[in-house]
Amino acid sequence: MTLWQILVSYSLLVAASLSLLTYWITKKFVLKKMHRTIMKAEHNYQQQIATLQMQLSGKVNVLESMVEKLRLSNQELNRLNEIRAKFMSIVAHDLRQPLSSIQGFTSVLMMDNPQGGGNNDQTALNNILKATDNMNMLMADLMDISMIESGRFKMDAQPFNFNALLNDVITLQAVNAQKKGIFLQKCEYPAEVTVVADRFRISQVLNNLIGNAIKFSPQGGSVEARFYVLNGMLTFKVADNGPGLLHTEKDKVFQKFHQSENDRTLKKQGWGLGLSIAQEIVNAHGGEIGVESAGLGQGSVFWFSIPQTPAAAAADADKAPIPNVEKKTVMPE
Ligand SMILES: Nc1ncnc2c1ncn2[C@@H]1O[C@H](COP(=O)(O)OP(=O)(O)OP(=O)(O)O)[C@@H](O)[C@H]1O
Ligand SMILES: [Mg+2]
Repeated sequence: MTLWQILVSYSLLVAASLSLLTYWITKKFVLKKMHRTIMKAEHNYQQQIATLQMQLSGKVNVLESMVEKLRLSNQELNRLNEIRAKFMSIVAHDLRQPLSSIQGFTSVLMMDNPQGGGNNDQTALNNILKATDNMNMLMADLMDISMIESGRFKMDAQPFNFNALLNDVITLQAVNAQKKGIFLQKCEYPAEVTVVADRFRISQVLNNLIGNAIKFSPQGGSVEARFYVLNGMLTFKVADNGPGLLHTEKDKVFQKFHQSENDRTLKKQGWGLGLSIAQEIVNAHGGEIGVESAGLGQGSVFWFSIPQTPAAAAADADKAPIPNVEKKTVMPE
C-alpha cells in the first residue's frame, strides 16, 4: 500500500466518522428539541380544540334552548290567534241577531207612525236604521276577516252572467250615486260574458270598488265602470275623479284597516276593510287587484282581473283586441 492510498483511506475514515458524529449530534440535540416543540404545539392545539369544542357545545345548548323557547312562543301565539279569530267570529255572529231585532223594531215604529211624534222622531229612527246598517256591514266584514285568518274563506265557483251581475251592482250603487249627484256610467260590453267564479264574493268586490269610487268622489263627480275579456282573463275597472292616491299608498290601501290620511272626513265613512277583503277574494280566484292614480287630486282607477273560467287560467289565450265599448249613463236622471 502506497502512502497516498493510506492517506486517502485515512481521510475517508475521518470523513465518515465526522458524518456519523454530525448525525448523532443533530439527532441527539436538534431533532429531539424539534420533536419536543412539535409535541408541545400539538398538545396546545389539542387543548385549544377541546376548549373550543366545549364553548361550541355550550353555544349549541343555548341555541337549542332558544329554539325551544321560540317554538313554545310560536305555539302560544298560534293558540292566542285562534282564540282571537274565534272570539271575533262569535262576537260578529252573535251581534247580528240583536242588530236585526233593532232594525226590525225601528222599521215597525216608522211604519206604525209615519209622521212620528214629529220630524225629530223620524230623523232619530232613520239614524238608528243607518247606524244598524253600518254595524251590520262591519260585522259581515269582521266575519270575513276572521274566516280569512283561520283559513276558512272558501270560494264556491259556479258559472254566471257577469253583465247581469254588474247591472245589479250598478242599480244598487246608483242610489248612493244619486244622493251625491254623481254621474255613474257603465260601458256596455258587446257580448254576454259567462264567468265561473263565486258570484256572491265577486259582487262583494264590485260593490266595494264602485262604492268606494262613489264614496270618495266629490259631490257632482263622475264614476265610470267597464269590463272586458282578453286572453281568458276578465278585467274590471272603475275610474273616478275623486281624491286619487299618493304613489306610496297604492299598496297600503289593500292592507287591513288602512285608510288614507289625505282627507280625515272620509276616514269616518268605513273601516278600511273592504279592499283587503276584495284582495283576498280576487287572489282566491287566481286573479290580481290594483289601483292606478296619477297622484293626489287626480282620481283613481281601481281594477281587478280574474280568469274567466278556472280552465281559462291555464289555457293559452285567444289574442282578441280590447273591444270597443258603448258608454251608458246610469246617472243622473
Ligand atoms: N276610489 C278611491 N279614491 C281614493 N281613495 C280610495 C278609493 N278607494 C279606496 N280609497 C282609500 O283606500 C282606503 C281603504 O279602502 P277600503 O275599501 O278598504 O276601506 P273603506 O272604504 O274606508 O271602509 P270599508 O270598505 O271597510 O267600509 C279608503 O279608506 C281610502 O282612503
Ligand atoms: Mg270600502
